[in-house]
Amino acid sequence: MSMKIAVLPGDGIGPEITAQAVKVLKALASDGLRLEMEEAPIGGAGFDAAGDPLPEATLALARSADAVLLGAVGGPSYDALPRPMRPEQGLLRIRKELNLFANLRPAQMYPELVGASTLREDVVSGLDLMIVRELTGDIYFGKPRGIHVNEAGEREGFNTMRYSESEVRRVAHIAFRIARKRQRKLCSVEKFNVLETSELWREVMIEVAKEYPDVALSHMYVDNAAMQLVRNPKQFDVIVTGNMFGDILSDEASMLTGSIGMLGSASLDENSKGMYEPIHGSAPDIAGKDIANPLATILSAAMMLRYTFSEDAAAERIESAVRKVIAAGVRTADIHTDGSLRVGCNAMGDAVVAAL
Ligand code: IPM
Ligand code: MG
Repeated sequence: MSMKIAVLPGDGIGPEITAQAVKVLKALASDGLRLEMEEAPIGGAGFDAAGDPLPEATLALARSADAVLLGAVGGPSYDALPRPMRPEQGLLRIRKELNLFANLRPAQMYPELVGASTLREDVVSGLDLMIVRELTGDIYFGKPRGIHVNEAGEREGFNTMRYSESEVRRVAHIAFRIARKRQRKLCSVEKFNVLETSELWREVMIEVAKEYPDVALSHMYVDNAAMQLVRNPKQFDVIVTGNMFGDILSDEASMLTGSIGMLGSASLDENSKGMYEPIHGSAPDIAGKDIANPLATILSAAMMLRYTFSEDAAAERIESAVRKVIAAGVRTADIHTDGSLRVGCNAMGDAVVAAL
């Protein structure tokens, strides 16, 4: 079976980092993996090419593919556009159109990079946690929304946080199944003390938990979770949470590891079709300078092989090549320390290919 991958480089450093992941995938293809890759624009690049951050042809390609590899979207030149034309809308729409409701954001510490974290070594060494963020519901997509003039005659902005039980249930199942393959600990994060949405969220989590008696479910308020993540992040194995809370907590968790440039992500639908992207942004300030860290995108490609294609051995080859390169002291600027070998984006991609 040939695996069809839509490659959407996007904006800023997107093209240079996806090029490295494509290079790694091609190296595996020359070893027998059957891959078919096709590129299309998204985000600002989509707007430039077709006047739409998610051009129809790009969406059609993504629909027809088994998996999507995405770089990053956004840049200052697009910030003044009306909201529906902004690059971020392309990202939100493709998530919704492809029904990618389960967003997996791992945060893993590499022993060699423990010094790059702003937290003490004993707090973060050996850290390995997974955030499962619901990605197609919540206040991000809830209606009604808008800005209107209220009865008092002043402008008022409003958004709606809402979750249906089926939305909570399906992401709960994904999170429990992931916990089962790890330390069997799942922490559900919400704001039960204030929000009805969270009350329902917790009820459904408890219902679903009955089907997974081997997984220990706990509950935590989001403010406490934000604190616990910096106080003692190793208490967590898998965290499951809504779209908004997950957006915030996953940025926080990523920084525990020292560099946001090291972490990939997967966004999955019901059938394990997925979109894979680094969790960092488009970094327009360093775009085109060949200094960006491509490892998050390369590791996203490894997640693709594992979660969509069940090619665990190939995924493990990429991950172990990345570990080797890090252990050998090869570093891009973001993770560079004294005594390590500083390389650019392209050379980092070559180093991973060589280590395969
Ligand atoms: C993310 C990003 C996006 C989000 C933005 C770019 C719309 O922050 O993937 O976490 O909020 O989901
Ligand atoms: Mg975010």
